[in-house]
Amino acid sequence: MESIALFSVKELSKTYTDKSNWFKKGRDVTIGPVSFDMHRGETIAIVGDAGSGKSTIARLLAGAELPDTGKLFIGDDEVNWHDSKFFCQNIRMIFQDAQKSLNPTVRIGDQLEQPLLFNTRLDKHQRLERIYDALRKVGLLPEHASYYPHMFSGGQAQRIGIARALILDPQIVIIDEALAPLDPSLRAQVINLLLDLQETLQLTYILISHQISLVRHLSDRIFIMDQGQIVEHGKVEDVFENPQHAKTQKLLKSLDM
Ligand SMILES: Nc1ncnc2c1ncn2[C@@H]1O[C@H](COP(=O)(O)OP(=O)(O)O)[C@@H](O)[C@H]1O
Ligand SMILES: [Mg+2]
Repeated sequence: MESIALFSVKELSKTYTDKSNWFKKGRDVTIGPVSFDMHRGETIAIVGDAGSGKSTIARLLAGAELPDTGKLFIGDDEVNWHDSKFFCQNIRMIFQDAQKSLNPTVRIGDQLEQPLLFNTRLDKHQRLERIYDALRKVGLLPEHASYYPHMFSGGQAQRIGIARALILDPQIVIIDEALAPLDPSLRAQVINLLLDLQETLQLTYILISHQISLVRHLSDRIFIMDQGQIVEHGKVEDVFENPQHAKTQKLLKSLDM
């Protein structure tokens, strides 16, 4: 049974004048155009070399940057790229450096409250309930709301990053290399947490990772990117078992090593 597309992305693209590398200086780098659908509750993995455009796609989809071309639909409704509230509420990112993405001088509870203040009409009591609920969902305690970021371990900080991503009940969560820095046992815990949350909240995940075991374990579909284009996509088991594109064959061999 084919599930209904939750979001569809059509011809999404962005061109940069790349200043990162002297020999490319002034040369344009184009990411896309890419088109794909996402279904409720599924995980898609985006895999590709550094610089292939994975994070650009993530930032565009999270509304952190405006595309040059492209449309985004929820069902039949087109999303306005300038509607920052929509992105804030529906498509959230979990960052690689959880500790750094938190403000060191602000208590966790206040940091979790920010999106609620800007995007909801909840009163103080309701906001606190949401904050405590978010902390519980990620395996932390309500009293952690009064702590400062430095009082948490790396694994706990990542849980707070997840709590913050979930506080407005988004539909899509983008995980851009966010699990790579964790040691294996912590990573396994966070993965189990993400899987539990996905099941209870019917979240759609976009996973960007070069860890083959993670991609294989978590993803339903995989998109292979090369130089700004999706060169191959399919069900994860099909792509792993029978990679078609030379780039895919190379990447799957090199992942995790
Ligand atoms: N803000 C930017 N300004 C200029 N070039 C950028 C910018 N963001 C990304 N790029 C370029 O776009 C390409 C893709 O980058 P990115 O999406 O970060 O790749 P990945 O996440 O796959 O490593 C790279 O060549 C990068 O230098
Ligand atoms: Mg990246």
